[in-house]
Amino acid sequence: MKVLVTGGAGFIGSHTVDLLLSKGYGVKVLDILQPRVHPYGKPEYLSPEVEFIQGDVSDKSILEKAMSDVNGIFHLAAYQDYMTDFSNFIKTNSYSTALIFEIIVEKKLDIKKIVLASSQSVYGEGKYQCKVHGMQYPEPRSREQLDKSDWEMHCAFKGCTNYLEPVLIDEAVINPFTAYGISKECLERLAGKLGRRYSIPTVSMRYSIVQGPRNSFFNAYSGVCRIFTLRLINDKPPVIYEDGNQLRDYLHVLDVAEANVTAFENSGADYGALNVGGIEGIKLIDYTNILIKVLNKKVEPLILGYYRFGDTRHTVSTSEKLKKLGWKNKRTLEDIFRDYVEWVHKQPDVKDRYEEVERIMKEQNVLKKAGCL
Ligand SMILES: NC(=O)c1ccc[n+]([C@@H]2O[C@H](COP(=O)([O-])OP(=O)(O)OC[C@H]3O[C@@H](n4cnc5c(N)ncnc54)[C@H](O)[C@@H]3O)[C@@H](O)[C@H]2O)c1
Repeated sequence: MKVLVTGGAGFIGSHTVDLLLSKGYGVKVLDILQPRVHPYGKPEYLSPEVEFIQGDVSDKSILEKAMSDVNGIFHLAAYQDYMTDFSNFIKTNSYSTALIFEIIVEKKLDIKKIVLASSQSVYGEGKYQCKVHGMQYPEPRSREQLDKSDWEMHCAFKGCTNYLEPVLIDEAVINPFTAYGISKECLERLAGKLGRRYSIPTVSMRYSIVQGPRNSFFNAYSGVCRIFTLRLINDKPPVIYEDGNQLRDYLHVLDVAEANVTAFENSGADYGALNVGGIEGIKLIDYTNILIKVLNKKVEPLILGYYRFGDTRHTVSTSEKLKKLGWKNKRTLEDIFRDYVEWVHKQPDVKDRYEEVERIMKEQNVLKKAGCL
């Protein structure tokens, strides 16, 4: 079978491409080579066996050409950022999804399956419980709360002074609050509903924080492993936001590629969504200390009272549904660090860019210090 991978030159896309090739699929890639992710152009790691089209997934004629002779699609191209150009999230992530179905219906294409990249961000602040008032899906914390260094979630019931306990997030309830999360909710709804209407099986993959080799240094969204690794390699201490007790789940990009192909080859989750989460939740401070150990550095992380407005407090997914299809996390956090650091050491430019990113986030009023409202 020949498949199209949109965003196939990217981090998750290229590992998915490699796995597909190793399994005997013919692979076509449509990727715009977004300059921030690929400042040096087409990446060397992209296999020569791939039929490559450089172009925008939200351009109908280019997408039509890319879809012309394939029977399956992995729709992984996305706009991901913290910026305020909200329309770009919808254009690249949601509008393109609608276009895929529009082209299939117009051209009567024989597409057997579509796997789409969604995100843990569709859960917004996630799932918690109050020991008195039960399960809750809270709204994000206010600036006023964060300014008081009051990091934990409060029970929403009037008069209740309990803090909420985080609960593992299953697929049941979504409540995104960022343009990115909303664009992924829209992608999921289009895929699920139009897929069912036109009998084209679809699965939306809600990845937690994906890490590993090829995660671009230049991608504003590529996260904590890159930022902290580059700080540490340059002998600078990582800067932790809030108090470091926030829980997250991280997973290896090779496990994600396997999840994508599992969902593609299995009909058990058709027309629905699947969490693709890490082995377990870990506190940011513990995560940082393991990384420091792996890199054999003698520094202490800095906790200076900074917070990023819009960050969630605790988000950890459970992947039980995906595991029932035969998938499991094969790689540990140590594997992630080892493979990532090994890759980083082979890169030509390992400059620490934290100060630059910090300046932009401060200018945009995203990064704030508690007590300075
Ligand atoms: N990395 C994570 O932790 C994570 C977590 C949740 C969801 N996701 C989702 O997984 C998918 C892949 O993410 P990634 O981490 O590999 O990101 P990435 O930036 O490495 O890859 C995305 C690719 O899409 C391409 N692209 C961007 N806009 C495009 C457009 N308009 N037309 C064609 N190509 C375009 C980029 O050039 C890039 O190669 C995305 O949909 C993302 O939203 C990633």
